Amino acid sequence: MRLSAYHIASNRIRTTRILNVKDESPTVKTFTFRDRLCAKAKPGQFLMLWIPSVDEIPLSILGTEENGMVSVAVKKVGEATEALHNKKVGGVIGVRGPFGNSFTLKAGKLLMVGGGTGLVPLLFLARKLASEAAKLVFLVGAKSRDELLFMDELKRTLAREKASLIATTEDGSYGIKGVATAPLESLLEKEKFDIIYTCGPEKMMQKIFDLTEKYGIALEASLERLMRCAIGLCGSCIIGKYRVCRDGPVFTAEQLKEVKNEFGISKRDFNGRKKPLEQT
Ligand SMILES: Cc1cc2nc3c(=O)[nH]c(=O)nc-3n(C[C@H](O)[C@H](O)[C@H](O)COP(=O)(O)OP(=O)(O)OC[C@H]3O[C@@H](n4cnc5c(N)ncnc54)[C@H](O)[C@@H]3O)c2cc1C
Ligand code: FES
Repeated sequence: MRLSAYHIASNRIRTTRILNVKDESPTVKTFTFRDRLCAKAKPGQFLMLWIPSVDEIPLSILGTEENGMVSVAVKKVGEATEALHNKKVGGVIGVRGPFGNSFTLKAGKLLMVGGGTGLVPLLFLARKLASEAAKLVFLVGAKSRDELLFMDELKRTLAREKASLIATTEDGSYGIKGVATAPLESLLEKEKFDIIYTCGPEKMMQKIFDLTEKYGIALEASLERLMRCAIGLCGSCIIGKYRVCRDGPVFTAEQLKEVKNEFGISKRDFNGRKKPLEQT
């Protein structure tokens, strides 16, 4: 595989310092830093963030600014994310990227469905599209009120006519009781949307995929797979004929149909073996 000059530059690791840390929930923090290349990222793209002496991990880009600021939101789930959570303003990190494709920017009637840290790329996308969309409905889900992410930011972004926010929690502590897909079918029965954008737990996205098939709506879903190189070389992120880091992370319904025997079903582990999703 030949890499272009742009890919060679974006794949070179740059060290930078954390400029801001914000608590989003008991387990999620947003980190802001400066990186000229990642500040040009489009919604849906990701970066590889290196925590010195620990590991390098893939993270969706949450936001960018023209002055080179970039933010990511990170859930503490294991060694690398915990080490990152322990970092303070001024802490050194490394960055490669941006990598992967992005969501298609459309101006019609849009529906976004996100769960957990899957909201990260969708919030970036909503900020870009909210003012142009003919209609924008944002459906957000979490286990409980504590874990609902970016609610203030979402309310600000969607504070306009023709935009609305629907929240669901599994324990019923906020919004509609149930999972994010619970109000979806009745919404699709009432209204015609041009596209659904989704990112979150893969089982949720699989349900949404089935509904888009039933109602004949375009779909773009952002997938997660184990990532190491992020440039299509190592094969750890393979799903069917695709490499998620290079051909994705955003896939259309047509592409998901081609990998139906893995989408929502299995993932590869660090040894390249296929494992049921629940075990990864
Ligand atoms: C394209 C993409 C975008 C992502 N965006 C976000 C985001 O915006 N916010 C966020 O909190 N998390 C995001 N993740 C998940 C994040 O990369 C993992 O939570 C992180 O790598 C866990 O590392 P750990 O050492 O803390 O945990 P570990 O204990 O090493 O792993 C915990 C779990 O995280 C996953 N994981 C571990 N290493 C990797 C890896 N190299 N690549 C992919 N998954 C891994 C595995 O499912 C594993 O079971 C994203 C993953 C991908 C692939
Ligand atoms: S992470 Fe290496 S091929 Fe995708």
